[in-house]
Amino acid sequence: MGRILVTGGTGYIGSHTIIELFNNGYEIDVLDNLFNSKETVLDKIEKIVGKRPIFHKIDLCDYDKLEKLFKNNQYDLVMHFAGLKAVGESVEKPLKYYENNVGGTVNLLKCMQKYGVNKIIFSSSATVYGEQPIAKLDETMQTGVGITNPYGETKHVIEEMLKDMADSNSEFEAVILRYFNPVGNHPSGLIGEDPNDIPNNLMPIIMKVSRGEIKELSVYGDDYPTPDGSGVRDYIHVVDLAKGHVAAIKAMEPGILIYNLGSGKGTSVFEMIKAFESASGKKLPYKITGRRAGDLPEIYADPRKAEKELGWKTELTVEDAMRDTMSYLNSL
Ligand code: NAD
Ligand code: UD1
Repeated sequence: MGRILVTGGTGYIGSHTIIELFNNGYEIDVLDNLFNSKETVLDKIEKIVGKRPIFHKIDLCDYDKLEKLFKNNQYDLVMHFAGLKAVGESVEKPLKYYENNVGGTVNLLKCMQKYGVNKIIFSSSATVYGEQPIAKLDETMQTGVGITNPYGETKHVIEEMLKDMADSNSEFEAVILRYFNPVGNHPSGLIGEDPNDIPNNLMPIIMKVSRGEIKELSVYGDDYPTPDGSGVRDYIHVVDLAKGHVAAIKAMEPGILIYNLGSGKGTSVFEMIKAFESASGKKLPYKITGRRAGDLPEIYADPRKAEKELGWKTELTVEDAMRDTMSYLNSL
């Protein structure tokens, strides 16, 4: 079936994707520097699927170690999740983000090229669309204009790098997956996202508020031109997202393929609060504050290309994500 190197595989999205890859018969090696994850997630994966990936604690910025890994192992494909993703921190420390995300990817591509590994699937983000005149985003839209933070710029630069690689090598095959807003976790409740730092994103903040680690949720604006005034996003259950990666492998061909992975449905912050309250049976304390700099009122995916070409679409809802979040929270 094939042996896959999963960079960032102990992280939130990588660990969920590994479960789906194992379920589809692939062999997995994981590379991670454990900067934002723990090796114990591999025990949980083993508990869920009965298989354990081979683990390599390597930093993508350490070229020599990375090169040795490729020298000693033959991979059919690389799934590239590894990266730093704290948007706020990227504004404070841009070079850290360019060095880790862009520099790390350059090292990875150099090793792939040296050892004849021509296939890569890359975790990009809807953030590459920047500011657009309409809320429903499709893959034909221009990218790279109006990106509001260095994190987003690194995603855009890496996308461009992959396109240049494909232009230079007719055997190169890349799939760029533009994630919308991943939420939820595996229904077992064994794995999920629980950052140690103060998170930036809505769902991990809601989780910390519900556990009393943060006093209340700040709702960043209730005066947007949206039905209830709060920001609208396309939340995608991480298990659906993980399955999108398996579908992408099957579609690979020489050149670049780009897909939005989203549900196509927008959900507001207030709707997210209500959905969480109904799953938890508890009120979630919140206050309305001003808008967050760089936020857009409403964004959601046009997911039709992925459905047509990958035969993939989301099956789970925000309610499913909230139910699974509760089982994860109860297991902590
Ligand atoms: P995560 O932080 O849970 O996982 C990323 C993993 O990469 C971590 O385990 C971290 O230790 C590892 N890592 C970082 N730098 C590394 C390096 N130099 N060498 C080796 N390992 C390194 O994040 P996630 O939410 O699972 O995100 C996975 C990917 O998806 C990232 O590239 C992220 O930018 C992208 N993405 C995430 C979201 C989201 O909301 N979670 C949205 C769009 C795109
Ligand atoms: C953010 C990033 C984006 C990144 C994405 C995934 C910004 C400006 N954008 O997108 O670059 O790709 O995360 O990592 O940071 N909200 C609140 N209160 C909070 C947190 C969020 O009301 O405490 C609202 C936001 O205003 C937004 C929605 O919740 O309307 C979702 O926010 P978030 O989870 O941060 O994702 P994005 O803004 O879509």
